[in-house]
Amino acid sequence: MGYNLLKGKRGIIFGALNDMSIAWKVAERAVEEGAVITLSNTPLAVRMGTTNELAEKLNAKLIPADATSVSDLEEVFRQSIEALGGKIDFVLHSIGMSPNVRKKRTYDDLDYEMLNTTLDISAISFHKMIQVAKKMDAISDGGSIVALTYMAAQRTVFGYNDMADAKAMLESIARSFGYIYGREHNVRINTISQSPTITTAGSGVKGINGLLDFSERMSPLGNATAEDCADYCVVMFSDLTRKVTMQNLYHDGGFSSMSMSYKAMEQYNKSFDEFKDENGKIIYG
Ligand SMILES: NC(=O)c1ccc[n+]([C@@H]2O[C@H](COP(=O)([O-])OP(=O)(O)OC[C@H]3O[C@@H](n4cnc5c(N)ncnc54)[C@H](O)[C@@H]3O)[C@@H](O)[C@H]2O)c1
Repeated sequence: MGYNLLKGKRGIIFGALNDMSIAWKVAERAVEEGAVITLSNTPLAVRMGTTNELAEKLNAKLIPADATSVSDLEEVFRQSIEALGGKIDFVLHSIGMSPNVRKKRTYDDLDYEMLNTTLDISAISFHKMIQVAKKMDAISDGGSIVALTYMAAQRTVFGYNDMADAKAMLESIARSFGYIYGREHNVRINTISQSPTITTAGSGVKGINGLLDFSERMSPLGNATAEDCADYCVVMFSDLTRKVTMQNLYHDGGFSSMSMSYKAMEQYNKSFDEFKDENGKIIYG
């Protein structure tokens, strides 16, 4: 259901690859809420993926760009302002990739060239995007910029690898640039820390199914879906959150505040049964 929360607003959505992508759902919801948007993804993703279908459906211009290239990003903002007829009100950074994860390099055996690529694509691209926008004065006063992140930036998650470092950097960029852009142009910059979600990038995370199941059971409200995330992004783009900036906003059904649930404790105790003697005493040795 639409509430016209983004009526008259212009936005750019980076990172919709296919209909599982979180950015895909955000693009659909933003348009449903009255926004006009452009879409961007890498030239390869534009050729190989289904972003074209989304662009057609939403009547949105699709602008190929590698988010690590400053000149490509300048083109995205230039063409978006032209296509949408004015300055941009909201931007979504929904981009992540780790060659170390893809090549199954473990965290204690990272390839450093690949680490540079992980950081450039998954974190520094956010800085580049904001710096380009600010230098071009491409974002309207009171605009809103959001990037998607994951809790592994704060707490170690098995298998998340160098993406955890990238997410920590991404969240830091939101704070550092949020200060400057807020002071000068009232532009808000936040990160949304989303539950594990089955998408192309999500499926690359080691043990994603176990992780999904664990967080689903551990979170009082259950995992947040991509559709739920789209709702939250819309609120963050809207005028209802004008004073929210430089925040890392957990969107995870409560998972990040949990340590032990009743169910998890039951399960944990059960796993010791086979190690108990006849008196119920745990045999450790
Ligand atoms: N899926 C999850 O479990 C989960 C959880 C928390 C946060 N996130 C974050 O959400 C964001 C979106 O991921 P998703 O899960 O929707 O997966 P996805 O694979 O659908 O999206 C990742 C996108 O990044 C794009 N991309 C990769 N390299 C790029 C580059 N150089 N320039 C521009 N775009 C590039 C890809 O083409 C793709 O569209 C990512 O930042 C991801 O880390 C995902």
